[in-house]
Amino acid sequence: MMHYSLPDGSLMPMLGLGTYDLRGAEGAASVRTAIELGYRHVDTAATYENEEAVGEGIRSSKVARDQIFLTTKVDRANLRTSDFIGSAEASLAALGCDYVDLLLVHWPNAEIPIEETLAGASELVAAGKTRFIGVSNFTRPRLKALLKASDLPLVTNQVEYHAHLNQRGLLRLCEENGVLLTAYSPLGQGSVLKDETICDIAKRIGRSPAQVALRWLLQKGVAVIPKSSSAARMRENLGMLDFELDRVEMERIESIGVCNRVIDWWPGTFEEDPDVFA
Ligand SMILES: NC(=O)c1ccc[n+]([C@@H]2O[C@H](COP(=O)([O-])OP(=O)(O)OC[C@H]3O[C@@H](n4cnc5c(N)ncnc54)[C@H](OP(=O)(O)O)[C@@H]3O)[C@@H](O)[C@H]2O)c1
Repeated sequence: MMHYSLPDGSLMPMLGLGTYDLRGAEGAASVRTAIELGYRHVDTAATYENEEAVGEGIRSSKVARDQIFLTTKVDRANLRTSDFIGSAEASLAALGCDYVDLLLVHWPNAEIPIEETLAGASELVAAGKTRFIGVSNFTRPRLKALLKASDLPLVTNQVEYHAHLNQRGLLRLCEENGVLLTAYSPLGQGSVLKDETICDIAKRIGRSPAQVALRWLLQKGVAVIPKSSSAARMRENLGMLDFELDRVEMERIESIGVCNRVIDWWPGTFEEDPDVFA
């Protein structure tokens, strides 16, 4: 496994399991399978309505809780201090855990001052209910404002990132400020797997399109959380850890130039920074 060094020197796996849409007993079984295959990082959210299943999957895997990096997220409606704390505590109860490793603001909310959210985050960190905090779906202007306001280190900005949404400028801003970029929908929910360049490289090097798409992100220093409900595809995605793309292959993917955002749950969020390739 490849890791990212966290502010306290501990390690976060650069590959995690996305769990959107993995619910109930099947969802729990998927999480358990992933952990048995070697995944040590699981991504969930209050709004996925699967935290019970994720907690159950972790417990039934028999791998100790402290060996797994667990992320959950607080909905944008709950960003006022007491709501933020209440949402995190409800997530812990649903997960059946004393703490999460990372708690993210799921989407920004311009109507709630970010200082309110940060106050809640500080309390949760002080109480040991989350080890770290981060954000999701923050554009460059919003991230810059947050970095100015926050005394806590921001571990990650989790955003849609794949070969058809190569948000180079946002990645640069994260790197300059010591924030890890985590790619959600790293396969573009499957759309990237049909890309001609990705398929051509995969064929030439005897790898699958998913492995090539994920490896490109990893070599750019981006963490990835592909979702799969299939043990075979979970294993395939793990296989992106044991090969390298060369410079020419990296550059070919870098210059694909397609702009296809697949997630836009809160229209207006991304309009403040439309130039995603810059
Ligand atoms: N922060 C946010 O706002 C946000 C938004 C969206 C997603 N996320 C997180 O990011 C995770 C991943 O994103 P996502 O679920 O939207 O999309 P994704 O991971 O890009 O794609 C998932 C789709 O690809 C398929 N797949 C997985 N591995 C494959 C492989 N090796 N070959 C072929 N198909 C494969 C899966 O099908 P099978 O299940 O059948 O394998 C599923 O249909 C989510 O689950 C969630 O945890 C966060």
